[in-house]
Amino acid sequence: MRILLVFGLVAVALAEITRFEGEKVFRLQPVLDEHVTVIKNLAQSIELDFWSPESEKQVGIDMDVDIRVHAQYLDLVYTTLEQSGMEYEILLEDLQAAVDGQADNKPSPRAHSYTKYNTWAQIQSWIASISTSNKDLISKEVIGNTYEGRPMTLLKLGRKSSFAKPAIFMDCGIHAREWISPAFCQWFVKEALSTFGSNAQMTSLLNQMDVYVLPVFNIDGYEYTHTNNRMWRKTRSRKSGTSCVGADPNRNFDAGWCTLGASSNPCSDTFCGYSPESEIEVKNVANFIRRNKAVIKAYLTVHSYSQLLLFPYSYSYNLAAHHSELLKVAEGASAALRSLYGTRYTSGPGATTIYPAAGGSDDWAYDLGVKYSYTFELRDTGRYGFLLPESQIKPTCEETMLAVKYIAAYVQKNL
Ligand code: ARG
Ligand code: ZN
Repeated sequence: MRILLVFGLVAVALAEITRFEGEKVFRLQPVLDEHVTVIKNLAQSIELDFWSPESEKQVGIDMDVDIRVHAQYLDLVYTTLEQSGMEYEILLEDLQAAVDGQADNKPSPRAHSYTKYNTWAQIQSWIASISTSNKDLISKEVIGNTYEGRPMTLLKLGRKSSFAKPAIFMDCGIHAREWISPAFCQWFVKEALSTFGSNAQMTSLLNQMDVYVLPVFNIDGYEYTHTNNRMWRKTRSRKSGTSCVGADPNRNFDAGWCTLGASSNPCSDTFCGYSPESEIEVKNVANFIRRNKAVIKAYLTVHSYSQLLLFPYSYSYNLAAHHSELLKVAEGASAALRSLYGTRYTSGPGATTIYPAAGGSDDWAYDLGVKYSYTFELRDTGRYGFLLPESQIKPTCEETMLAVKYIAAYVQKNL
């Protein structure tokens, strides 16, 4: 027993962190059907990490295709691209340098900071302290545990009331490597608490409504990006019969599940899971929203990157019943966001604005009856991609606040 334990600890201590020396991120610009075929064939023959879109299945002409290429395949990729005549550029010359370059903000490495990418341990202690220091505006509730047993703590912001208030639900960190997303949820909570009473809109919002914030949806995956592999996307669930780990939580919701833009291969980064809500994190969130659907008026989910504000549908090309209203609100929110630093967002339904992809939380919430259902894809448009430097956390969060507050104000006006 003792020996096993010691070996276990040694194994943990030796768990190697994946390094990315010599790897590059390419942006391919297919303009011919042949180019698309070249990309798909390449994806069949070597391991490619699709950053945008999320799999080769979603590749089409006239779109930017951002892929991470392992060092040993660079020669092959260069030769293939040159032969195909496809235009391309290198977004990141050296991925490890970009990983190392993210942490360009100062504060002491171990303390929680709103302008750094915090670890789950830091976020967890932040959750504990922020919810005890602001008792009249914030409470917390564990909606279940992750696959690896971490508590999914949901924060509820809003002035205490004796009756159930209408609410907005927002989650961050569905995908593990999109680090700017949990940073935004933390920023939102701080801003809400610190501007209640001084900012008229925030005061009115939290007087009339509650805002539920899930700071990190896919905690196991997020932790794994800190300890093992910065490029991890999925959950960390295991199943006998395959050595591949995890499913894509944003393909695992019960909305046209696994019909389009998702993979049934457990090794794929867009694996839809073994059944809808097979991922416990998805089940926990879906159960909470189902239980509270009478009060939840808006569902916001925060991803990166691409600078998009998407709404249903992604599992179908059909327009949502409230298409024009959803578009109008998205355009207003994007304009508000842009007013601060000029950052441009594109808004529209997922399927036509990026690509069809079924099983997403936005479509699921919408079909459940949550009309104002939006997916944010935060900064940037590919200069750094998932490796957005910490110096951009503050401006990104500030501008995103304007968009979220715009949507919240609209929802509040139309209760
Ligand atoms: N990048 C996100 C994803 O692929 C976009 C989500 C849009 N919504 C959707 N239901 N596919 O997960
Ligand atoms: Zn995502």
